[in-house]
Amino acid sequence: MTSSTVQSIRTLDKSGNDITSVGFQRFGFDCEVSLDVLRSLYLRPHYVTTANEDKTERVDTKESNDPAPSTNGGYAAYQSKSIYHPQSHSISYTTLSRFPPVKLLPQAGRKRVLVTGGAGFVGSHLVDRLMLLGHDVTVLDNFFTGSKTSVSHWVGHPNFELVRHDVVEPFMIECDQIYHLACPASPVHYQFNAVKTIKTSFQGTLNMLGLAKRTKARFLLTSTSEVYGDPEVHPQHEDYWGHVNPIGPRACYDEGKRVAETLTYGFHNQDGVDVRVARIFNTYGPRMNPFDGRVVSNFIVQALRGEDLTVYGDGTQTRSFQYIHDLVDGLIALMNSDETRPVNLGNGDEFTILEFAHLVRDIVEDVKRTDDGIASPRRVNIIHEGLPKDDPQKRRPDTSRAKASLEWQPRWTVRMGLEEMVRYYKAKMAEGSL
Ligand SMILES: NC(=O)c1ccc[n+]([C@@H]2O[C@H](COP(=O)([O-])OP(=O)(O)OC[C@H]3O[C@@H](n4cnc5c(N)ncnc54)[C@H](O)[C@@H]3O)[C@@H](O)[C@H]2O)c1
Repeated sequence: MTSSTVQSIRTLDKSGNDITSVGFQRFGFDCEVSLDVLRSLYLRPHYVTTANEDKTERVDTKESNDPAPSTNGGYAAYQSKSIYHPQSHSISYTTLSRFPPVKLLPQAGRKRVLVTGGAGFVGSHLVDRLMLLGHDVTVLDNFFTGSKTSVSHWVGHPNFELVRHDVVEPFMIECDQIYHLACPASPVHYQFNAVKTIKTSFQGTLNMLGLAKRTKARFLLTSTSEVYGDPEVHPQHEDYWGHVNPIGPRACYDEGKRVAETLTYGFHNQDGVDVRVARIFNTYGPRMNPFDGRVVSNFIVQALRGEDLTVYGDGTQTRSFQYIHDLVDGLIALMNSDETRPVNLGNGDEFTILEFAHLVRDIVEDVKRTDDGIASPRRVNIIHEGLPKDDPQKRRPDTSRAKASLEWQPRWTVRMGLEEMVRYYKAKMAEGSL
């Protein structure tokens, strides 16, 4: 996908208005950035395959002549490249000569922000936003599920630091805000080593709360809708205590997050630590690991490859899906608001998994047709396999607290988010990295 294709994508919100920027100005915190600039950091081929080296040289030369930095264009020049040479089966990496322009903040408005798990899916999008907004960002990650490449476009920037560190070990740094995300989030990964997962949730959160206490930093925990387990009330509001199997296969994650919340409010009540708790519902978007078994990436990758879509069970179980930019808006709003109670962040549009499979299949066909002029040779089928143990039947957030306290509501329709994600995976396939 070229830069001009990225710029020409039209995205409409739930009310049919164009989305040209994400973020808002609220609670004295400006977090608005141009969608095109943000997109240029992820909606592009990471690898450039070239059979003809001369052609690549020409492309590079043209990009280096792009206009001077602006927050609305000329961003091709900020892209690092990994150039694949098919003949020698090798890759040459280029580093950035210029970074995307970031806001110039007065010292008083500039926060020193620590993002644990910042090299993961959610973390890297949060980091992009905080960096473009002009803050000092430190990412702490052990790269268990995250990858250096998801934030490599900031390495070397004077406002950015990347630290390989496991949060179960203590860590000291001066900071004003801590977004504590470090924890594997997909069942495949958190069940890989269940004891380590619960240790990360407990010991990691304990360490980061200790740091918040010492530095007087504001602390935000990314908890999860999984604290509600297989819920008996629908939709789930924050006062519902949940219905969790403490010894089931998901317990290391669900109970880990529950104890992390307990710790967070322990430090708040006992030591006066300034805390925020976000209970995140299913979120999807570019940079999600395509092989971690989450339903959105599973369906898209299967449909793009022309494989049948696998639905577990009969597909009547429901899920709601939130797009990454809405979540990042919500996390930043929560961090900068006065709300100390847990807050649900999710999209209330509920789908059965079967409906969702049909939607993904249609969108993949539409995107291939409109972007590439290719009609799919055959409609992929939807097939059924056995339901995993303890899979929740229903999940939908009650987001009235987020609306009242944060003035936050999801703007992205599931269709718009899915289209963008299909383009992202399509580009990754074209470059040969998927
Ligand atoms: N994505 C979702 O739908 C969703 C839903 C609910 C909650 N959450 C929460 O949001 C946070 C981020 O989720 P994600 O989807 O980006 O997952 P992810 O797996 O992509 O990111 C997690 C990051 O944490 C890092 N990490 C894991 N263990 C660590 C440790 N011990 N020390 C340091 N770093 C460690 C990983 O390497 C990775 O970069 C998690 O806390 C997750 O529980 C996500």
